[in-house]
Amino acid sequence: MSEHSGQQPGDSAARHIAHNARVWNYWLGGKDHYEVDEQVGDQVTSMYPSIGDVARADRAFLGRAVTYLAGRAGIRQYLDIGTGLPTAQNTHEVAQRIAPDARVVYVDNDPIVLTHARALLTSTDEGATSYVDADARDPEAILRAASGTLDLGRPVAVMMLGILNFVLDTAEATSLVRHLMDAVPSGSHLVLTHPTLELGGEGNEEAMRFWNENATPPITARSRAEVEGFLAGLEVLEPGLVSCARWRTDADAELGDEGPLVAQFGVVARKP
Ligand SMILES: C[S@@+](CC[C@H](N)C(=O)[O-])C[C@H]1O[C@@H](n2cnc3c(N)ncnc32)[C@H](O)[C@@H]1O
Repeated sequence: MSEHSGQQPGDSAARHIAHNARVWNYWLGGKDHYEVDEQVGDQVTSMYPSIGDVARADRAFLGRAVTYLAGRAGIRQYLDIGTGLPTAQNTHEVAQRIAPDARVVYVDNDPIVLTHARALLTSTDEGATSYVDADARDPEAILRAASGTLDLGRPVAVMMLGILNFVLDTAEATSLVRHLMDAVPSGSHLVLTHPTLELGGEGNEEAMRFWNENATPPITARSRAEVEGFLAGLEVLEPGLVSCARWRTDADAELGDEGPLVAQFGVVARKP
């Protein structure tokens, strides 16, 4: 990373252990990662060859979900938790292209994401973006900080893409989602992606074991039933809880480019 962006805070510790935000960036073809991230990323790919497809499908899902929310659903506020390093088509870029007045709060706890956050903080004049350095396990702190940019009395899209898999205890993850969704009004939406062992993905289990022994933070896959537990009390939008690569791909499918099926659930649900 320092080749591209200069010395970063926390560099010495960060250089020795692969971290999810940077490895994810590597799989997405970005430049913000260290050698250790490339090595672990390559090892995971050798065990689980479709992981690059998972990362790309997850980002494409983000684009389609936010396009729907900013367009047909009329959502003007986004709370994107577990943002990741800036890449192409970040949430505010997708939303503000459709709704220039969209307001976006990004949340991550990786110091490297923080140092790159300025790339996320561009905005239209009509809209707003901000960045909160916080742990997803502390929803109250997130809501407090987000309320500086978002009006929590109006509908919010709570986005948790590839993040609940780092909250290993399912009861804790469920209670975090509930806390956040309880704090936003009717008409708000929850947008999730989550890895699973139930949609194929050869080598996924072995790769996760390798990850948990060699990288941080530790990760878990979840079953359909466990992910459905996050959606209790919400109206799940069509086509339901599916591989994120198959969520509303009709427009792409017409072009004959649906992309490979990946072992990552994607879902959008509305608070009634
Ligand atoms: C797999 S990446 C997903 C990035 C983006 N949401 C996407 O879908 O492309 C997960 C992100 O969650 C962040 N993360 C992991 N555990 C976290 C926690 N406890 N609190 C806040 N962020 C966390 C990581 O730093 C990383 O940037």
